[in-house]
Amino acid sequence: MQSIPLERRRKLRTWSHGNKPAELQDSEVKPAKFLLDLASNDYLGLSKHPNLIKAAQASIAREGTGAGASRLVTGSRPIHKELEEALANWLGQESVLLFPSGFQANLAAVLALADRSTTVLADRLIHHSLLIGIKASGAKLKRFVHNDLDDLERHLNNFRNNHSAQQSALVITESLFSMEGTSPSLTPMAQLCERYGAKFLVDEAHALGVMGKEGRGLCYQVSTPITMLSGTFGKAFGSGGAFLAGSKNTIEYILQTSGAFRYTTALAPSLAAAAFAALKLIKNNPKWSATLQQRSKSWRSALSAHNWTCPPGDSPIIPLIIGTDQEALNYQMHLEKAGLLTVAIRPPTVPEGTARLRLILRRDLPDGTLKQLVNALKGLL
Ligand SMILES: Cc1ncc(COP(=O)(O)O)c(C=O)c1O
Repeated sequence: MQSIPLERRRKLRTWSHGNKPAELQDSEVKPAKFLLDLASNDYLGLSKHPNLIKAAQASIAREGTGAGASRLVTGSRPIHKELEEALANWLGQESVLLFPSGFQANLAAVLALADRSTTVLADRLIHHSLLIGIKASGAKLKRFVHNDLDDLERHLNNFRNNHSAQQSALVITESLFSMEGTSPSLTPMAQLCERYGAKFLVDEAHALGVMGKEGRGLCYQVSTPITMLSGTFGKAFGSGGAFLAGSKNTIEYILQTSGAFRYTTALAPSLAAAAFAALKLIKNNPKWSATLQQRSKSWRSALSAHNWTCPPGDSPIIPLIIGTDQEALNYQMHLEKAGLLTVAIRPPTVPEGTARLRLILRRDLPDGTLKQLVNALKGLL
């Protein structure tokens, strides 16, 4: 992924609660021109919310900056348990276990659900962390066409016809794909898994807080069992760290056996405290997600009216597919001149020939952003 020179990153303009962002307080850089951030995953604009800052500061004053050891040694703090219980409750899950990052959580999830005798059926576009987990597990990997239920069923059928009843299959997908802004139909997918006796793992990293009923993610309203879901606090929750959620037995199994959980320093208490503050805000503002989805619909229809092809749906991720790497970089520079920070996402993060600008809507973007964007894009097609 293209990295923005530090000089430019410092000029990011963010819009949270009238607070002057830290970048603007940095005296070395003259804030001559600021870029409006349409690239980061801080969907709800919580990373600079006073409640999160206060919670993290109080935690640091009380607990220090780091946990000092893994959860099973001396790293556990009351906030870890409180957050796990509150999340389990909010998500309607039996049990939750925190991790220092989503990458680790995904690794742990796959290693808990797959081994060398497993066949993993994964959406072609799943996140790198899941792929690393599959590799580490030694499982056989088959990839199905992105969000394609028929292709998944074909793979499940093949698997059942060619394997004994003892051999297991694991289906892996994301509920909101980070580079596509698309979502699978989770209910029929869960039903397929149930019918073919496959386990089902869903990464909710980008959906949590912004999609589904009251932002509870897209698994929340699926009544067919999902074996495990993963979520991260590094995106809509404005903090850092992550979790896995599932049945008591599955989560207990991970706690007892997972190296990715046992042999790592516990999530910093201040990050857990900030995530807990974010959860409270999201719970107290159940309409935030619907408002963002509504805004996404207006953005999509305005962009479509200007001949841009947008993926269907109402997620805050809107990729504008450009084509070659150089063209995408040119678009990025053009938007930057118009005061908008977007990032050209290029292969290998996305397939060859589909370099794109990944637009991210945030709840706290100022009025007029869409107009600014559409004007900047005018004449580029
Ligand atoms: C789909 C998906 N899953 C997992 C992760 C990893 O999360 P974290 O940033 O907490 O390690 C990311 C972040 O890039 C992601 O996009």
